[in-house]
Amino acid sequence: MDVRVITGDIATTKADAIVVNLFEGVTSPGGATGAVDRALGGLISRVIAQGDIRGKRGELVLLHAPAGAAAPRVLVAGLGKSTEFDVNAVRDISANVIRRLRQPGIRSIATITHGAGIGGLDLEACTRALAEGALLGDYRFLRHKKEDPERAEMESLTIVEQDGSRITRMSEAAHTGIVVAEAANLARDLANEPSNHLTPTRLAEAAQRLARESGLECEILDAAAIAAKGMGSLMSVARGSHEPAKLVRLSYRGGSGDGYDLALVGKGITFDTGGISIKPAANMEAMKADMTGAASVIAAMGAIARLKPKVNVVAIAPCTENMPGGGASKPGDVVTAMNGRTIEIINTDAEGRLVLADALCWAVELGAKAIVDVATLTGAATTIMGDAGFPIMTNDDAFCAKLEAAAAAAGEKTWRLPMWKEYDDYIKSDVADQKNTGTKGAGTIVGAKFLEPFVDGRPWVHMDIACVDMLPAENGWISKGASGYSVRPMINLAMALGDTTAR
Ligand code: BES
Ligand code: MN
Ligand code: ZN
Repeated sequence: MDVRVITGDIATTKADAIVVNLFEGVTSPGGATGAVDRALGGLISRVIAQGDIRGKRGELVLLHAPAGAAAPRVLVAGLGKSTEFDVNAVRDISANVIRRLRQPGIRSIATITHGAGIGGLDLEACTRALAEGALLGDYRFLRHKKEDPERAEMESLTIVEQDGSRITRMSEAAHTGIVVAEAANLARDLANEPSNHLTPTRLAEAAQRLARESGLECEILDAAAIAAKGMGSLMSVARGSHEPAKLVRLSYRGGSGDGYDLALVGKGITFDTGGISIKPAANMEAMKADMTGAASVIAAMGAIARLKPKVNVVAIAPCTENMPGGGASKPGDVVTAMNGRTIEIINTDAEGRLVLADALCWAVELGAKAIVDVATLTGAATTIMGDAGFPIMTNDDAFCAKLEAAAAAAGEKTWRLPMWKEYDDYIKSDVADQKNTGTKGAGTIVGAKFLEPFVDGRPWVHMDIACVDMLPAENGWISKGASGYSVRPMINLAMALGDTTAR
């Protein structure tokens, strides 16, 4: 979908459908909606008086072939109460509008920016959210479907603004929204891809392709190089599978100095059977998405390369299958991570933390000044959060606050779980420096506690997205299947760090 911003009058803009809006309780629309209402001879006001348009959040009323309009369809989008309206609402409404208008005969849409008028929201933030939401809402994974009656793509979204002096600023903001949404959509594509199509090798190739397209530096370590680095924890998971492991590094240098201002580390299990501690059959197909963390950090790097914040960022993605092959770890095995710490493997299904341990060590070795890791780590995340948001854990309140702000700006809810020292005991082992599972509950926190020794005291946030990586229904910016969670928060964080270091 092609998104552009033009100077013009929405009432006279030609498109297969135009989109205007209405706040709840407004009986006589003003602004651009008012202009369209006048062009239609007061039709919108009459339909409001009739009670068919109330402006409620989520309401989408389509007026067919209204006389007086340049477009054959006018969609009135309810914005809800103006006191409850924000940029996150703009993004969600934009996504839902695209879905509502996805039908044969509609290829081009023209819209006004919701909320920047009487809504009083920041014009650039609104324009970005509008473009971002449109692309996020337009996403579908149809690659393996031979037949789909509605597969025709939306061709264009035109954002119409009367004031020509605003166009440059709005175009830049729309561009940011497009870049960020395309990153989330790339992560969705990778996570939706079945594991027989997306092996560790293919995932590494996808990272390589992205690096070529966006000017990132890319290094792929193969199994021999991983072993040579002493990454015994990552290798212990990889040895259960015939598919060779790959360790992906993508680097972006927009700042000054050595090392990296930020490392993004993502779990890349292209399929998680559980290994010898094998999972039950029910819903195991969802484990094709156990590489969502890797997909997210890779995709985020593509956007960072295009948006060019003034920071150095490295992404690291340990990619392997977790299979119960002949070389697989057995419960009770002890392995040694790159930093020399020994790990007793109690449950081979707690494999994410094993591959992340070595990846975090590498981030430290590469000079990461702050680290964010993202992983579909524990089913317990769902027990805690449902799918309304995801838990985060940290060793640094100030750094975590930045990530929280970055997530909130993306419309993603996060909640901090405690990292009390009492939990340290949960992973004490009799035979090694630590074991890979606890026994007393708090499974999500135990996952973070396991990872903590590998970040070497650097400011660090752990995002457990196991509760939101695959979702059953589309809603606002969220897509069905792979959701795209965590990608935009990481991009926002890199951009925010760039603003601070640039000052
Ligand atoms: N990939 C799973 C976690 C998961 C579960 C992600 C459901 C998405 C949906 C992870 O590797 C895992 O198996 N975790 C175990 C940890 C346990 C053995 C300590 C779990 O949550 O059961
Ligand atoms: Mn597992
Ligand atoms: Zn897993």
